[in-house]
Amino acid sequence: MEKPTFYVTTPIYYPSDNLHIGHAYCTTATDTLARFKKLMGYDVYFLTGLDEHGLKIERKAKEAGVTPQAYVDKIAEDTTALWKLMNIEYDDFIRTTQERHAQVVQHIFKQLYDQGDIYKSEYEGWYCTPCESFWTKTQLKDGKCPDCGRPVEFAREESYFFRLSKYADRLIEYIRHNPEFIQPQSRVNEMMQNFLLPGLEDLCVSRTTFDWGIKVPFDPKHVVYVWIDALSNYISALGYSTENDQLFRKYWPADVHVVGKEIVRFHTIVWPIMLMALGLPLPKKVFGHGWLKIDGEKMSKSLGNVVDPVVLCQRYGVDAVRYYLMREVPFGSDGNFTNESLLNRINSDLANDLGNLLSRTVAMIEKYFGGVVQPMGERTELEDNLIQLAESLTAKVEDLMNRMQFSTALAEIWKLVGECNRYIDLTQPWVLGKSEDGKARLSTVLYTLAECARIVAVYVGPFMPSTPARMFEQLGVTEDGLKTWDSAKRFGGLPAGTKVTKGEALFPRIDIKKELESLAQLKAAQGKEAAEPKAQEQAPKAEEELIDIDQFAKIHLKVARVTAAERVKRSDKLLKIQLKLGNEERTVVSGIAQHYQPEELLGKSVVLVANLKPAKLKGILSEGMLLCADDGKGGLKLLTTDGEMADGAEIG
Ligand code: ME8
Ligand code: MG
Repeated sequence: MEKPTFYVTTPIYYPSDNLHIGHAYCTTATDTLARFKKLMGYDVYFLTGLDEHGLKIERKAKEAGVTPQAYVDKIAEDTTALWKLMNIEYDDFIRTTQERHAQVVQHIFKQLYDQGDIYKSEYEGWYCTPCESFWTKTQLKDGKCPDCGRPVEFAREESYFFRLSKYADRLIEYIRHNPEFIQPQSRVNEMMQNFLLPGLEDLCVSRTTFDWGIKVPFDPKHVVYVWIDALSNYISALGYSTENDQLFRKYWPADVHVVGKEIVRFHTIVWPIMLMALGLPLPKKVFGHGWLKIDGEKMSKSLGNVVDPVVLCQRYGVDAVRYYLMREVPFGSDGNFTNESLLNRINSDLANDLGNLLSRTVAMIEKYFGGVVQPMGERTELEDNLIQLAESLTAKVEDLMNRMQFSTALAEIWKLVGECNRYIDLTQPWVLGKSEDGKARLSTVLYTLAECARIVAVYVGPFMPSTPARMFEQLGVTEDGLKTWDSAKRFGGLPAGTKVTKGEALFPRIDIKKELESLAQLKAAQGKEAAEPKAQEQAPKAEEELIDIDQFAKIHLKVARVTAAERVKRSDKLLKIQLKLGNEERTVVSGIAQHYQPEELLGKSVVLVANLKPAKLKGILSEGMLLCADDGKGGLKLLTTDGEMADGAEIG
């Protein structure tokens, strides 16, 4: 009989910089699901990749001084290396700059145009480049992007539009009749209330003001809007609309698109309407997971609060990191990442609970029975309870995994681990080992433990891909039939006579206090590296976008007098400057050491941004920023007043 298929995807990430633990979170979850489904006997296809076009990438490449293609090529390498490190078992890695993708996007665009669902008009509105999103004036929040809170840019240009409005009612009907389509349920209400019920506007689907994209085939001064380009990856990777479309015929519609909550909108409105217009079935499910945050803010490169998954995997092992990601936060909710919570999880759940169960079991079989698993004798209520728990786990874990409740599934598995450890305390093998009578009972106890450890090893596989093999090795499990999902449903598979061998601790205990100190030092060292480029970045980039008087009023500028200045140690760019503003004194670190000698500054009246958030540069707290004019050729001059002015005077 043919296996049932299961097609699962991650978003294709923007190659806007090295990926952080937030991206690893989404990919790990998808990989965990894919592995679980494989164990369940599905023919799984797992797609991930990169979303390489758009204005954001074009600008990033320019900043880096390389071509966009060179820029994305480098990041594609880093990304696939990260997934390899993290044991992500994808079937295909699509890049939107690949020809196989571009040809499908052009086909889709042309078909939608030919059938009248795409038409030419003029766009006027606002654009958020980091999100690659169009917004109307009323959708903006305080003049900023309602999704990410960053500034938007005004755009007016000839554009093609996609008739979302024509399909809105059909989509609303579809969502109402398919309660499984958008998960978790809370995201349905969000989509309905915020976007669908107020009425969908047609979507601008081409741009003419930059180049880095797929050309509209019949009007090449336009490039296809990056979201139309990106969403198509889910079918272009399968060869849709090409001669080679077996994968498409086999796997479409997708079983789950796993996406972050901020892009649920594109996946449950734009994408389904594209598919409807193409006459294709919709994906069965879009699951919108939450964000990993740091100090309550979404982790993101632009906020500079990212955590590098490579560092964590190198220090604690891939499986420990994967376990933490899947266990710590219920999938669907936001969660806070902290080093403490990671280290606590590793010590308590992995080193203590799981690691001790295995090491104690194996050590006792070695000590009392020369390393040979003895036959199971008569069962007591204690064994009955444990076996009942082990055998009933399958149904619970399957149900939770099918609902993508990874954290709860792990919690259920850990109930068995916890009960096994309690069973050791209750049966006291070290007492039983003292007498011949006791030893008969002990063989049952240790068989029960070894068999439960085998069952746990099967269950943790999708989450921690290399852990089962390490457990099986110590337990002496060699037969493939004892490693399958099915084999975990029935207690008793492990043959008596199996030879166990004690190995290394599965997850070594970490000295949390020491480790937190090392991590803090590591961060400080990275902070120093980052400080210099930051000081340079302070020269604001020219942005075309306009602000109103209220926005300007938020910036407090004051006249300040320089009372002292000195070079910052270990930096050739920074000066530490003492300022007097009326009764107030301030310290500012400024990147002007190559333009002014410290002595030259004494007594100067300069302009201070007085309400800038303080920031540490080279370990010195800088309380504000001095304004400078930059001639773009490396010349820099401090702004000062035209004639005498008291320090502390307001500017505005
Ligand atoms: O949106 N916590 O790409 P992207 C959890 N190219 N998830 C996070 C996260 C965090 N701190 N930061 C990012 C795009 N993500 C588009 C997708 S799909 C056709 C095109 C998740 O690189 C985020 O929620 O900005 C999203 O699902 C994914 O990483 C890619 O984000
Ligand atoms: Mg994003």
